Amino acid sequence: MSQELVIAIDGPSASGKGTVAQGVARELGFAYLDSGALYRLTALAAQLKNIAWDNEVEVAVIAAALDVEFIGEQIYLSGDDVTLAIRAEEIGSGASQVAALPQVRAALLQRQRAFVGEQGLVADGRDMASVVFPSAQLKVFLTASAEIRAERRFKQLIARGELADLAAITADLLARDERDRARTVAPLEQAADALLLETSSLTANEAIAQVLAWWQSRA
Ligand code: DC
Repeated sequence: MSQELVIAIDGPSASGKGTVAQGVARELGFAYLDSGALYRLTALAAQLKNIAWDNEVEVAVIAAALDVEFIGEQIYLSGDDVTLAIRAEEIGSGASQVAALPQVRAALLQRQRAFVGEQGLVADGRDMASVVFPSAQLKVFLTASAEIRAERRFKQLIARGELADLAAITADLLARDERDRARTVAPLEQAADALLLETSSLTANEAIAQVLAWWQSRA
């Protein structure tokens, strides 16, 4: 059996890990898993069914039964294109709340592992290195200062034509960081065997190049 190749990239909200992970996947011809999208989809599906984000049992049932398709850059929930809907700030906040529930995390575990295939996988999230893919051949913890992350998120929203308030974005990012770090199950933290990539002063291409260099030189 061929060895399964996995690159795990973890980091806080708006650190740029999605852009870097997708760039690395493109360069290597690997598949890409945006694990945060699964938490966002769970939050959206719960909202659509009027189930509160802190109702662990019901939200876990929803997570286990998610009818999701990833087609290129588009994401479908029960056949509806929700690519933009899951990026709303409110759904990001809901995702952070449902992600703190152990039964929800357990319900999504196998679904994430099922993304590993013959061609290799780049997976990004919070617990890719620690929980989902502990035997990944390369683990990266990608971060940037809260100020830079808030600026990046601000520019993204403006580019999408949405209203954005830098102070509110910064406050929300800090609250989400705190919730992701403080939760008891699979908290956001750098795994002992993960390499730190501080991207505050790097372009996306420079960060992608660094991950590729680590991948080429892995033992
Ligand atoms: O990466 P993101 O902003 O799309 O993630 C949305 C939320 O999901 C975030 O607040 C933390 C949570 N998350 C998680 O707990 N574990 C993951 N592997 C990915 C995301």
